[in-house]
Amino acid sequence: MNKLAVLTSGGDAPGMNAAIRSVVRTAICEGLEVLGFHRGFDGVISQVYQQLDVRMVGGILEGGGTVLRTMRSPEFKTEAGMKKAVNNLERLGIDGLVVIGGDGSLRGADALNEIWSGQVVGVPASIDNDIGGCDLCIGFDTAVNTALESVDRIRDTATSHERLFIIEVMGRASGHIALSVGLAGGAEEILIPEVEYSVDNIVDRVKKARSKGKLHYIIILAEGAGKGFKLADQLGQKSGMDTRVAVLGHIQRGGTPTAFDRIIGAKMGTYAVKTLLEGKTGVCTGIRAGRRNLVALSEAAAGKPLSQENLELSQTLCI
Ligand code: F6P
Repeated sequence: MNKLAVLTSGGDAPGMNAAIRSVVRTAICEGLEVLGFHRGFDGVISQVYQQLDVRMVGGILEGGGTVLRTMRSPEFKTEAGMKKAVNNLERLGIDGLVVIGGDGSLRGADALNEIWSGQVVGVPASIDNDIGGCDLCIGFDTAVNTALESVDRIRDTATSHERLFIIEVMGRASGHIALSVGLAGGAEEILIPEVEYSVDNIVDRVKKARSKGKLHYIIILAEGAGKGFKLADQLGQKSGMDTRVAVLGHIQRGGTPTAFDRIIGAKMGTYAVKTLLEGKTGVCTGIRAGRRNLVALSEAAAGKPLSQENLELSQTLCI
């Protein structure tokens, strides 16, 4: 292994820069040359890249987003696009590629690994936290803390006006963000795609809470678990409570990464380079129960179940 490349792909996640910095500095310490592709796999296809050195990744740790920029490349999903990418990697003499991203990016990395003779290693970075083989993806901790700050603020106004609030958080088809935010924020209700719910049952719980003297009713809704405005109308009509909806959206994706996300970014970036140096390919790095862990890219991209313990805890405490 002489030359490796790194890219970030899919939705940006706070802490991606820490992972890039770690890949670059570890590779250089090991005597390797490093290229950074811009805009994910699209940069491999259109040959937009730069040689990276130790200084170029200085002062990037505290920034959210990704200095290599990112996108979801439609061309990379085509056979022709994939072939172009392989030809370019070969022409540039790249022996190994580190792909930092979420489930779609890791699926892309897996497909590339099938047809390219070089090595491919993934690093899980997604605010959705829906990657197998690791407890926490880069970006999840920051996103949860950012959303939590909003929930705490919204509770002040919800209590003052005695309102029911639906706060919609990201997560695509998974409820990891909603569950953590709801649990940490003491929400009255957490609605996630993994667990069915009934509007009438929620109405009963709202009425019960009101009769016990609860002033507000905070519902954390995962974006994959329903439409906030429709639900607010239904709940408002049936419970008689004044309702409001707050969609947090991309606020959760931006911002300074927490110390935790910077540290796991640093750990997994280094681990990815060491994994390439060990000759491995088609795998994704992770940290599980405090230990390094490798799983096949396909297994990583297949996602992971919600923490059963957190689910039960949230159900016990949401009263
Ligand atoms: O996968 C990360 C994520 O932020 C999801 O939670 C969300 O559904 C999606 O990306 C939004 O994507 P976009 O930035 O393309 O709107």
